[in-house]
Amino acid sequence: MEDLITMGQKYVMNTYGRFPQVLVKGSGAYVWDSEGNKYLDFVSGLAVNSLGHCPPIVTEAVKEQVEKLIHCSNLYWIEPQIKLAKRLVEKSCCDKAFFCNSGTEANEAAIKLARKWGNGRFEIITMKKSFHGRTLGSLAATGQEKYQKAFQPLPEGFKYVPFNDLEALEKAVTPKTCAVMLECIQGEGGVNVPEPGYLEGVQEICRKNNLLLIVDEVQTGLARTGKAFAYEHFNLSPDIITLAKALGGGVPIGAMLAKEEVAKAFQPGDHAATFGGNPLATQAALAATSVLLDEKFIQEVAEKGQYLKSKLEKLQEEFPQITKVKGLGLMMGCELSIDAAQVVKKCLERKLLINAVGEKTLRFLPPLIVTKAEIDQMVAILKDALGEIISNY
Ligand SMILES: Cc1ncc(COP(=O)(O)O)c(C=O)c1O
Repeated sequence: MEDLITMGQKYVMNTYGRFPQVLVKGSGAYVWDSEGNKYLDFVSGLAVNSLGHCPPIVTEAVKEQVEKLIHCSNLYWIEPQIKLAKRLVEKSCCDKAFFCNSGTEANEAAIKLARKWGNGRFEIITMKKSFHGRTLGSLAATGQEKYQKAFQPLPEGFKYVPFNDLEALEKAVTPKTCAVMLECIQGEGGVNVPEPGYLEGVQEICRKNNLLLIVDEVQTGLARTGKAFAYEHFNLSPDIITLAKALGGGVPIGAMLAKEEVAKAFQPGDHAATFGGNPLATQAALAATSVLLDEKFIQEVAEKGQYLKSKLEKLQEEFPQITKVKGLGLMMGCELSIDAAQVVKKCLERKLLINAVGEKTLRFLPPLIVTKAEIDQMVAILKDALGEIISNY
């Protein structure tokens, strides 16, 4: 493992703060490193491996497709792409789908579509603490200075308002505004859940001012929060939805969905992605979504989410260092009064993968196939880790 890491440090660009583990194998809620150590995975590829690692339904679909047709150009029709578009449209409030390869690309597509639809109106209002991706357009949409400051100048036309502040949003609207873009629950910004009525209020402001409502469901979408799409918790009807992460069951794919009135602003030549919606990725996504969008499966996620939340709240009673438990479904967070990275490290020593966002928030993104026994196991490890940290204070 050490040799591999040394080689990685020499040849791989230094864009990630990585843990000293090389992961080589995965099954269900577990991964193994190259030394044979087994870890319980509550990161699940940052909400990608929603069906767990190497879900047979996806691996079988990929194996079959890889021998049939891996890639062909979007100059021709692609069968699994058409079927995937139908499924996503039928499950959402949108009418048309565009496929790409990642979350940031899905958001780039949304930004371009909103501008084309805006017909001269180009400003997009987004939220502080949001995260929409790393390419220049999505980065400009991301309301976090720390990610933007080294990359100026960014594309113009973005304004940021605080999440949960309707007055600020209303004030930010100008005759040039064409859309509001947000995550229903901010993921990377700290698992921030909206206050009751806020998102409904945002939708009202959009309707009143003829603005598009773009909901970034890259992290929250596809059953993660205990609904097919997180916007369903808030009775929203977004004009544009972006997806990625869990969509391909681990295979890279992104999508932008839009209502017909908006989608028709795009005409041939306006937008494209060479690999977008290729046969391999869309076949994988068809397999993954056959489970992720199943009502019974989604209901189970909601129940397990409640269970995880109750367990974390119980832990909070024992550890006042947990100042808040927040989230929806199996997208949960714990705000801490202590350094979150330290907790992540202690959990890793105990063979549990969890993630920290910001300095003081733990984020839990288990695979959605996680069992209650595995949730108990995670909580036991976390308790032990917290116990050790507190005893050293
Ligand atoms: C809400 C949200 N949007 C967009 C992205 C960017 O996705 P990708 O890394 O696939 O470009 C992320 C990634 O974490 C995300 O959480």
